[in-house]
Amino acid sequence: MALATVRQLLDHAAENGYGIPAFNVNNMEQTQAIMEAAAATDSPVIMQASAGARSYAGEAFLRALMGAATETWPHIPIAVHLDHGSSPTTCQSAVDAGFTSVMMDGSLLEDGKTPSPFEYNIQATRAVVEAAHSVGVSVEGELGVLGSLETGEAGEEDGVGAKGKLTREQMLTDPDQAAGFVAATGVDALAVAIGTSHGAYKFTKRPTGEVLAIDRIKEIHAKLPNTHLVMHGSSSVPQELLAIIREYGGEMKETYGVPVEELQESIRHGVRKINIDTDIRLAMTGAIRRALATDPSQFDPRGYLKEARSAAKELCILRYEQFGAAGHASRIEVIPLEEMADLYAGGRLV
Ligand code: G3H
Ligand code: 13P
Ligand code: ZN
Repeated sequence: MALATVRQLLDHAAENGYGIPAFNVNNMEQTQAIMEAAAATDSPVIMQASAGARSYAGEAFLRALMGAATETWPHIPIAVHLDHGSSPTTCQSAVDAGFTSVMMDGSLLEDGKTPSPFEYNIQATRAVVEAAHSVGVSVEGELGVLGSLETGEAGEEDGVGAKGKLTREQMLTDPDQAAGFVAATGVDALAVAIGTSHGAYKFTKRPTGEVLAIDRIKEIHAKLPNTHLVMHGSSSVPQELLAIIREYGGEMKETYGVPVEELQESIRHGVRKINIDTDIRLAMTGAIRRALATDPSQFDPRGYLKEARSAAKELCILRYEQFGAAGHASRIEVIPLEEMADLYAGGRLV
């Protein structure tokens, strides 16, 4: 069993100057795609499950999928992470279910919609850190609210995330506040807001520094050189994937994601975990549309799901390589949770 914590993997990434894509999983094909790509490139894995994934697949199935991944690929270090935990209770239930890392998203209140006061965020995140670290589990916190600097709209998608208009200040993590937040909570990694948002519709044109504030990452990293930074909403929304979907009858409006070069630039400035969900969705949807349109007599789901899995795998291989994670899995010796707990207790992981 090679179950690692996100903290351990990000420490290795920081020591060796690379980033790790954190892919969202909801079903078997996505899990296999991520793992096959990791095995093909010798990359460490972060798989994460959102509240949406847990309501789609159910906790037991997600656990079983992640268990199957560690059993099938015992030589790959895998961190199993809760994405956007909305309360200490949700985070604790993930810890109890065997997740090795949790995100306490205290940038929003427990409703998952309302931007929270700074004090609430500190207190909720600190509580999760205390409970999680005592059993060796790592914690990601978030400061700043995801949203579009182009429109001023919050980043709500599928009922998750803030709603309505936000100020530019709310949508850009303040470097001084970030330093205070990390010191007060003891988080292992900090998700920052710099103009990215979840989903396919991030930017109406290729983003400039005005709407995708990579400079803000640099400022935060200068204040917090030893903190692992996390970028959410980091799908690149490849134009070629949009084209496949459109070609086979899908409707996708003109849209742009976060260019891979900007992600690579962020990795050079302390970003270690890069969250990607939408790109896998686009790859799979395009492949399924193409398979069904090309052979309308197909009715065995295994046929088109195989195509979807292989399109997702291709995307994952690309990101592992582009972020520099490829080649590192075999260099990591997994630290068991009990040992991580001792390291935290001894103050050796700060
Ligand atoms: O956090 C955002 C991810 O894209 C998860 O989306 O809640 O629809 O699974 P979801
Ligand atoms: P995308 O929607 O850009 O893939 O972002 C996913 C994410 O941030 C999950 O937490
Ligand atoms: Zn996210």
